Amino acid sequence: MTRSNMSPLARTVVFLSFLAVLATASAQEGYQTAYDNVDVDVIIQNDTLVQTIMKCLVSATDDLCGPENKHVKELLPEMLATACRKCTEKQKHSMTKFFGQISRKHPDIYKQFLEKYDPTGELLGKIKTTA
Ligand SMILES: *[C@@H]1O[C@H](CO)[C@@H](O)[C@H](O)[C@H]1NC(C)=O
Repeated sequence: MTRSNMSPLARTVVFLSFLAVLATASAQEGYQTAYDNVDVDVIIQNDTLVQTIMKCLVSATDDLCGPENKHVKELLPEMLATACRKCTEKQKHSMTKFFGQISRKHPDIYKQFLEKYDPTGELLGKIKTTA
């Protein structure tokens, strides 16, 4: 059966299935990280945790990374390159706040972070939160 022989109902069904596939694809496009349900303030106040995260991120290898930080490390270049297009508002907010605090409280490791992920220093600033 060619497309032009389809009944209007069949066409509608095909079209709706197509929309459903699209909707599923875009829902799966987002990121899921181990920190999605953690308050960014709690992370920032925990110096051990901050050091663990940042040492993993700036290291040339993944040897210092636990699985949750290794995952974030893998996502980070794309998040930065796309101004976090696929991030939730909460992820954007957490990210800008986290790195803002790191820049103030841990300038040395922040410098290493910039050198590795944002050498021109403009990518992080492109992440805009609406809230
Ligand atoms: C800080 O984070 C580390 C590593 O996740 C954890 O073991 C420790 O209990 C945390 N400390 C506080 C005060 O929450």
